[in-house]
Amino acid sequence: MQNKILTVAIIGMGARGGYAYGTYLVEHPEKFKIVAICDPDEYRLNKWGDYMSVPIEQRYLSEDEFFKEKRADVLFVTTMDRLHVRMANKGLDLGYNLLVEKPISDSEEELKSLVEHAHKANKTIMVCHVLRYTVWIKKCKEIIDSGAIGQLVSIDHTENVVYWHEAHSFVRGNWHKREDCAPMIMAKCCHDLDLLQYFAHSRCKYISSMGDLRYFKKENKPEGSADRCTNCKYMETCTYSAKRIYIDMWHNCHEVQDFPFTLITDVYPVTEEALYDSIRNGRYGKCVFACDNNVVDNQTTIMTFENGVTATLKMEAFVREGGRDIRFFGTDGELDLREGLNTITLKKFNGETKVWKITDLTDDLHGHGGGDHEMLKQLYNVMALNDKNVETSIDASVESHYMALAAEESRLNNGQLIEMSKYRK
Ligand SMILES: NC(=O)c1ccc[n+]([C@@H]2O[C@H](COP(=O)([O-])OP(=O)(O)OC[C@H]3O[C@@H](n4cnc5c(N)ncnc54)[C@H](O)[C@@H]3O)[C@@H](O)[C@H]2O)c1
Repeated sequence: MQNKILTVAIIGMGARGGYAYGTYLVEHPEKFKIVAICDPDEYRLNKWGDYMSVPIEQRYLSEDEFFKEKRADVLFVTTMDRLHVRMANKGLDLGYNLLVEKPISDSEEELKSLVEHAHKANKTIMVCHVLRYTVWIKKCKEIIDSGAIGQLVSIDHTENVVYWHEAHSFVRGNWHKREDCAPMIMAKCCHDLDLLQYFAHSRCKYISSMGDLRYFKKENKPEGSADRCTNCKYMETCTYSAKRIYIDMWHNCHEVQDFPFTLITDVYPVTEEALYDSIRNGRYGKCVFACDNNVVDNQTTIMTFENGVTATLKMEAFVREGGRDIRFFGTDGELDLREGLNTITLKKFNGETKVWKITDLTDDLHGHGGGDHEMLKQLYNVMALNDKNVETSIDASVESHYMALAAEESRLNNGQLIEMSKYRK
């Protein structure tokens, strides 16, 4: 029997809409067909339109034109944070099922209104909490739910942001200024907050959070340094030099990794010349001590869940290697996930220790440890085959956003304890 082909329209042809999801859809023509795309950036629109073989007349520079009618079975909303809800609402009005990037929104009112609208329209919204779909997160969940560590008591979770990723996204890049985007605890860690409630199997009851912008400030600018790395005498030595991050690192690892290089240039495949052009002229070549950034570079959050499980979440810029480290403490044992070290270790108190290598669980760790692609496989099952298992539904996903809003409220009030119930009213 022939597969159903799910037709897809995408709004926002940047890193997520184009590269992260678009490429997978194109590589799976037996399941997906991209039929319409929208982006006000003409170069991007046509670059991806050509790659995706979208007819010229189905490439929209104007959001208004794009939303004049329903153009596909499903709409991907992959624009920046503050545009998601406006576009999702228009999509629901046209009768689309939706894939919506996280963070859904950093406005409590918008979150509530979208949930209500989705229910009224009786449409499915999948939120891109891609980590839930990774096989290694599923493995941990399966072990905990099997009772192998007894009763879960607490969780210690670190999101190792990594020093250069902090500089890329939160000092120089899209998420550097609070006025323009979601707070970092939401932009970077709504995944982690989502996982904590998923593992705890319970809603968060109380949350408290502390953190600040410690380092990437004008007063830490080295004596005699320039405002742009390519003109700076510290270009070869500064830890955060754009030349080191985008040129030297690219030479060392572009065979295995496209991020962050594909994000600073539209030239694909990336070339050294294009990277140099970007850091000589664009935002990613600015000195990290001379940007107008104001988001945190460290934040620690503690929380209690309704069933008594407690958790800590550290969002830490100042680390060399990335990945999530999560330790689960149970009444009969410990479970230790080290994404960077490629291991999941189960240590039973009665003696048994078992180690899994993450790379033995899957051969696709591309894009959030394989989560981007696994989510799209599930999206096909839900939206083409009517599978009811929407792991990251709007209802499930909105909780992590309330947790992030509460954590930010607490941080801005010196760690004040916030009762989560007030966000659910
Ligand atoms: N799921 C994840 O793990 C994950 C990872 C990274 C980013 N994200 C999220 O994905 C979203 C997109 O991030 P990105 O890195 O792709 O950003 P990006 O800046 O690369 O892409 C956004 C695109 O939207 C386009 N755009 C702007 N206004 C538009 C409009 N009115 N109509 C249509 N297009 C418009 C821009 O021109 C740009 O091409 C963000 O909300 C981000 O937080 C999620």
